[in-house]
Amino acid sequence: MTAINRGVYAFLHPVLLGLPFISGPTLSGPAIMDRSDPMPDTRAPDTHPTPTPPAPIPPAGAQPALAIELRGLTKTYKASGKAPAKLALKGIDLSIPRGSVYGLLGPNGAGKSTMINILAGLVTKSGGTAKIWGIDIDQDPRAARAAIGVVPQELNMDPFFTPRELLDLQAGLYGVPKRERQTERLLEAVGLKDKANAYARTLSGGMRRRLMVAKAMVHTPPVLVLDEPTAGVDVELRQSLWAHVRELNRAGTTVVLTTHYLEEAQELCDSIAIVNHGQVVACDSTDRLLRTLDRKDLVAVVDRDLTEVPATLAGFEVALKGRQLTVQYPPSRVKVGEVLNAIAAAGLTIVDLSTKESDLEDIFLQLTRAPAGNGEG
Ligand SMILES: Nc1ncnc2c1ncn2[C@@H]1O[C@H](COP(=O)(O)OP(=O)(O)OP(=O)(O)O)[C@@H](O)[C@H]1O
Ligand SMILES: [Mg+2]
Repeated sequence: MTAINRGVYAFLHPVLLGLPFISGPTLSGPAIMDRSDPMPDTRAPDTHPTPTPPAPIPPAGAQPALAIELRGLTKTYKASGKAPAKLALKGIDLSIPRGSVYGLLGPNGAGKSTMINILAGLVTKSGGTAKIWGIDIDQDPRAARAAIGVVPQELNMDPFFTPRELLDLQAGLYGVPKRERQTERLLEAVGLKDKANAYARTLSGGMRRRLMVAKAMVHTPPVLVLDEPTAGVDVELRQSLWAHVRELNRAGTTVVLTTHYLEEAQELCDSIAIVNHGQVVACDSTDRLLRTLDRKDLVAVVDRDLTEVPATLAGFEVALKGRQLTVQYPPSRVKVGEVLNAIAAAGLTIVDLSTKESDLEDIFLQLTRAPAGNGEG
């Protein structure tokens, strides 16, 4: 069974089929390597590849200011069966600077994976333009894909290869010479050294995800895109994965990632775009984004139970719980001393005190709570 499967895959291998080398996920993607393509997108297959090698990554000095540039990007998934057509991207403009760790955040169905899959060449866009490392994906799709490594959200890998074989094969598909391959280093980085020779089907979900991260990095692309790279990965390994991402970033790789763990985005990403219903609703440096809410909470425990908000605090939004007062104030306009004075003016003694800055979660919820407009959902 195993031998037969491996035989079939060897037979499908593009080099054995005499196909020209095509860089990027075109070949590493579902059509050839993977059998379980989760994307029912009806992209016309790349049946007539031009026999040209991928353009080399521009040398230092010729590096673009933007690693990824999207202008007016739209995507409508066609209606199929009972499912109506879906306008998943409504004109995305996004500039991701070279060298950043960029977070794409948004609720389920916002359009993050659609955006990433367009960059990976797995989904065809409906309109707009997309450039990866300065290369337009329409004008030179192969060079564009050679500049990017993508870990899709849906994991699909051949269960009958071992991690070591999969990484080697992937490096081969990208034309990485044997002596330049980093198979062992990558296995180590994603904590799979001891599973290097196990069949991929025997790996746990988190291990598979880590293997996919390694697979996206075999050709050391200048841009690495990770669609929910740590979903289902345990805490310790998540830390080591992030350490590796940071190390890659320090070495010059631009990293774009989606995550539903907001504290992770807050800690790791220098810039963040929040996407909701196919539109970018906020995008800024993480620091500036965190300041946009202009909201701080002061939590004071006082010396007696309160049944109503003291009149001296009338100018603030206050939540009351027994002896605990939570006062919301805008730090740009109100000094914390004014809040304390207002509490003291009510004749209350403060026995405990803390303040809470607004965090990414507050901002995220504020920006994404709005319902979809014009009936799109
Ligand atoms: N192949 C497809 N065919 C039809 N509709 C699709 C397809 N893929 C995605 N969609 C729809 O497009 C919208 C955006 O989906 P997408 O997967 O891009 O969201 P997401 O932001 O990645 O969400 P999540 O956080 O759940 O991963 C959703 O409404 C989804 O149902
Ligand atoms: Mg997604």
